[in-house]
Amino acid sequence: MSTPTPAAVRKEVAAHGEQVDAEREAEQSLARRCRPRTFTQCAGQDLAATMLRRVAANRAPHHAYMFVGPRGTGKTTMARVFAAALNCPESDAGEPCGACSTCEAIAHGSDIDVVEIDAASHNKVEDARDLASKVGLAAVGGRFRVFILDEAHMLTTQAWNALLKTLEEPPAGSVFILATTEAGKVIATVEDRCHRVNFTRPATGTLSIKLQEIALTEGIHLAEDARLLIARYAQGSYRRGLGALEQVAALAEPGQVIDATLASRALGAADARLSAALFAAIVGAHHTDALALIAQAVADGLEPSAILRDLERHCREVLICTTVGAVPDSLVYSAEQRDLLAAHAQAVTAQHPIGVIDRIAAALRAISDGADARTQLEVCALNPFGATR
Ligand SMILES: Nc1ncnc2c1ncn2[C@@H]1O[C@H](COP(=O)(O)OP(=O)(O)OP(=O)(O)O)[C@@H](O)[C@H]1O
Ligand SMILES: [Mg+2]
Ligand SMILES: [Zn+2]
Repeated sequence: MSTPTPAAVRKEVAAHGEQVDAEREAEQSLARRCRPRTFTQCAGQDLAATMLRRVAANRAPHHAYMFVGPRGTGKTTMARVFAAALNCPESDAGEPCGACSTCEAIAHGSDIDVVEIDAASHNKVEDARDLASKVGLAAVGGRFRVFILDEAHMLTTQAWNALLKTLEEPPAGSVFILATTEAGKVIATVEDRCHRVNFTRPATGTLSIKLQEIALTEGIHLAEDARLLIARYAQGSYRRGLGALEQVAALAEPGQVIDATLASRALGAADARLSAALFAAIVGAHHTDALALIAQAVADGLEPSAILRDLERHCREVLICTTVGAVPDSLVYSAEQRDLLAAHAQAVTAQHPIGVIDRIAAALRAISDGADARTQLEVCALNPFGATR
């Protein structure tokens, strides 16, 4: 029997991948199903996208890149898009088509020229040697071989040392992408050999637009206030945002419009309006209102510590606005919230949000020491302003 050609192997692997993927598609998480396949689809990472698109268009990549940024911001996603951009036969000015068999195979993780390694579970010297030996094979047919090393900061120093040489002088057509949330933990000799690409946390507004787009394609009816609540809840992680959207959608009846009340119940996260109302009640010493708001929120199923955390976020935003004397665009995601922040920022001095933040910290500490959470929340809200604990 003759040995199969690389092209034949590639085809077989891809066909197998497609079949498995078709079976799994239905049960795949929303975040995985909606993973961007082109640079344009990667929201909020314009700098990274522009740079990598240009590199792919020139077909002259550096031999190693380090993608640095917080969780769920698209490092692995962009690494795959870059690999596709380098290898897609239909690519246009560095933008992969996202639909050809190469793009499909890369998206599904079944392309033999794109190797993804989870450094967290393969962090030993042997793993590094194994990888180095894989890199030894040159790419064929003008393709690029791309090695994506996820959680790169987890590799041991010995493992890095075993990889250094390969990283410095990989065979022609090989590209390394090291992805990490903690660049500081990657040894300097490795960092020096890589071109660094930074990934940033998207603003709530950017996330909210992405959520809207995905809700539309998925047939999820999402009201604006729910969308904003989920975007806030995501804390700058697309993955967390999409996970939350999926969780909320699972609770809705078919065809039901998801509003902030439903989303807040599904996620156990406070609606921004609750935090704002609670803040106003606290600084205005409207104790009965504060108690009523807390009682309602708890009856709606919110955890007292989650209410405290959301209140803390509102305090921080008010504090920023009072300090800079305006509502910065980076904080704004809806007209209603801009008005609320502007009103609160005008009505208080910096001492108010700072005072509440201190009390929240004390309440959270007490809760972690075993104190009753609801009582702590109420004490936090009822303590006469200016009093310390
Ligand atoms: N820029 C983006 N635009 C749109 N969706 C995104 C973006 N970044 C991430 N996502 C979504 O979030 C999911 C997780 O992204 P990804 O795995 O790329 O994050 P990561 O930065 O590698 O996170 P980690 O540090 O945890 O490995 C993707 O499947 C995708 O659905
Ligand atoms: Mg990743
Ligand atoms: Zn393609």
